[in-house]
Amino acid sequence: MSKNKLMNQYVADLAVMNVKFHNLHWNVVGERFEPVHVYAEKLYDDLFAKYDEVAERLKMLGVYPLASLKSYLETTAVEELENRDYQIPETMAILKASLESLRKLAVDIRTAADEEGDFVTVAMMEDHVGAYDKELWFIASALK
Ligand SMILES: [Fe+2]
Repeated sequence: MSKNKLMNQYVADLAVMNVKFHNLHWNVVGERFEPVHVYAEKLYDDLFAKYDEVAERLKMLGVYPLASLKSYLETTAVEELENRDYQIPETMAILKASLESLRKLAVDIRTAADEEGDFVTVAMMEDHVGAYDKELWFIASALK
């Protein structure tokens, strides 16, 4: 897939993941509800900032970012969640798998951008991967 297509896939995934993480923020249940509820909010705030950042980078590259919910659902690889209660271990496992998939896409974009000499996008994706690594460490520590 071309760099521009990968970046638009990332825009779509970030948009849908923002909704998915809100679902977990609202529907997580269990004794440790509050920290997980707050943590999900921290994550979706971060994804929302990345969503805008990547879309604006596409604009700088002369490409239209996907900008409709319809196009996101047609493009995304993210599977949405049902409306139900989510126990904390399941919530953490979903957050972990979700961040791992976003991380993989950021690495793929970084590789494609590097092949084109687009070092601004390379630097952006390296920041994203570093941020995902930090969150994945938090989650791994919480699951020990
Ligand atoms: Fe909230």
